[in-house]
Order: sequence, then C-alpha cells, then structure tokens
Amino acid sequence: MARIYNFSSGPAVLPLPVLEKAQAELLEYPGSGMSILEMSHRSKTYDAIIKAAEANIRQLMGIPDSYAVLFLPGGASQQFAMVPLNLLPAGGFADYVHTGAWAGKAIKEAEVVGRVKVVWDGRGDNYMRTPRPAELKFNPGSAYVHLCSNETIGGVRFPEFPKTNSPLVADMSSDIMSRVIDVSNFGLIYAGLQKNLGPAGSALVIIRRDLAEKTPESGNLFFRYATHMKEPSLYNTPNTFAIYILKLVSEWLAAEGGLAAMEARNQTKASLLYQALDTSPFWRPCARKDSRSLMNITWRLENEELEARFVQQAKAAGLDGLKGHRSVGGLRASLYNAFPLEGVRKLVEFMQDFEQKNG
Ligand SMILES: Cc1ncc(COP(=O)(O)O)c(C=O)c1O
Repeated sequence: MARIYNFSSGPAVLPLPVLEKAQAELLEYPGSGMSILEMSHRSKTYDAIIKAAEANIRQLMGIPDSYAVLFLPGGASQQFAMVPLNLLPAGGFADYVHTGAWAGKAIKEAEVVGRVKVVWDGRGDNYMRTPRPAELKFNPGSAYVHLCSNETIGGVRFPEFPKTNSPLVADMSSDIMSRVIDVSNFGLIYAGLQKNLGPAGSALVIIRRDLAEKTPESGNLFFRYATHMKEPSLYNTPNTFAIYILKLVSEWLAAEGGLAAMEARNQTKASLLYQALDTSPFWRPCARKDSRSLMNITWRLENEELEARFVQQAKAAGLDGLKGHRSVGGLRASLYNAFPLEGVRKLVEFMQDFEQKNG
C-alpha cells in the first residue's frame, strides 16, 4: 500500500485509523452478521450507530439541548436552498455576507426564494479577505444573517464571528470541527461532510429547535427542517455508511483531544506553510493575512506554466491535489483535521527544492 499526501479540497483525506476500522468492519459489522452497507436503518444496531454519532458530535462541539443535530442528504448545496425555504418568510428578507464563491452560491439560491440584502461584498478585494465584525452593519428585521465561515476556493476565513440580533446561519463545510466555536452564537450551522467529517453527499445540520419549529407549512415536507427533526434523520433512508464513518471520525477526534487539540494542530500546520510562502517573493500567497484560512491555503506563482509544472512535479513526489479550483486557478493546499503535519513538512521541503530549481 502506498498512500500519498492528499491535499484535495474535498472529498478529502480521512484519518487512517478510521479507514482501517471501516475496512476491518466492512464485511461483518461486529455482532450483526452483515455489512453496515446491508443493514436496515431501522435496526437496533444502526440505531446505536446514529445515536452515538450524534452524541459524540454534541460532546465535541458542546451543542446545547436546545439544538437539533440532523444528518441530511444532498450536501451543503442543498442547504443553500433549504435555509431560505425554511427561514425566509414571504415578504421578509435575509442578510448575506458575500465572501467568495460559496457565499455567492448561497446568495443565488436564496434569491430564488425571496429577498436578499448583501451587507458586505468582498469583490473589491477580489474576495481575498473577510470583513472584521466591526465592518458589518446588519439590517434590522432580517430573518437571518448568512455567512460562510471558510471559503474553500479563495482560502479566506472568519477568524472571529460577528454578533447578530437575527439568527446567524453559517456554512461551515470546510472548517467544521477544525476549531472551537460557541454554537449558541448561531441559529443554524451546516456543513457538507466531505472535508472534515466523512464521505460526500450528506450534510450535518445543527439548528436551534425553535427555528426548525417555525418552518413554514407550505412547500414540500422533505425540505422542511421540522420534518427531519420529528423523525430524527430517519424521515428518508439516510446515508447510513456516511453516518457510520462520521461516527468513527468523531471517535477519532475525541481520542486525539477534541477540537481544542485540533485547532492547535491546524494552527501549527497552516503556520508552517504560510511561513514558507512568506519567505520569498517567488511565492505569492493569495489571502490577506488577517483572513487567512487554516484549512485551504491558496497561492500563485509567476505564471500558469510554472504553476502547472509545480502541480505535476509535486504529484510525482507523492504530493497530490495541489491544483487550485478550476474557477480561479493557482495552487491550493487543503490541510483538514486528518492531514498529517509530516505531509506539510514534505510539501515545504519540496517547495524549497522547486524554488531553487525554478526561482
Ligand atoms: C464552503 C462550501 N460550501 C458548500 C459547498 C458545496 O458542498 P456540496 O458539494 O456538498 O453540495 C462546498 C463544496 O466544496 C464548500 O466548500
């Protein structure tokens, strides 16, 4: 087996002990005589798995009982639609912060449903920074305020979150559980699983119960949070395998010291790479320093030909997934929770060598 260092932005690297456990249990989930892939989502065994996944997530993130934890199909993009379908009443409006590609997609979906007021737009800075809380002026009476905590493509994040009078809704797809946050500051948090949590195609949704209860009784049952809260994540047949992997990831996170330990580790990994990027003008890091993501680190080289050479030679050296998103080009290293420090060291060594030969 030759596992390489996988810098992919998602689906992304998972902890090796999680993959090993899943492999060991694949043919027969202990005591059940069958694979998790073959098991009824209403069986006792599966019930214990989904409940453990939820309990572990509550413990890791310190989620109060007044919030529901849901596992929903469709990934984060479906949440771009479900949020306004549930929380944006007819005649009302919602405030959105536009920090880049993902916030932009969330805005587009919300505009299909109702009125959106963009309270801050990073276009003037090419979406290379996020606003400081003091820069944000929210509109009184908004149904909610939406932001993306970490822009996976641009590589910018909110180092701190604004306080809002309306419920704060956050797309945390690419930095969920990478740092300690106070859940009670948010009305709703959602994240696609495929970066820090598990396989693609499902989302984790953490929603204040009173907000879910308010969801309008028009519109399809399937798209109402209330429906999924009433039959906890079992209204439809959920992605049983993804939730099982999420349970294993949550156990791994707890064994590694929880989110505070992850945050410290992520800080160390990202600092190592940013330091390398800051050492010489050969490297051109994209994000403004005060907004730099710890998860997705983006930079450019002098020209696209040099960038292509970098990606190709890095891959040959066992460092894969460093090409920037197709919409912006450049280079990107995604350093999620499961990405090892050793891989960042290898990348920095490779960069020093590459600069010597091409600088
Ligand atoms: C920040 C962010 N939001 C939303 C999405 C969309 O997620 P999905 O592909 O699960 O719908 C992504 C995907 O990479 C993302 O990075």
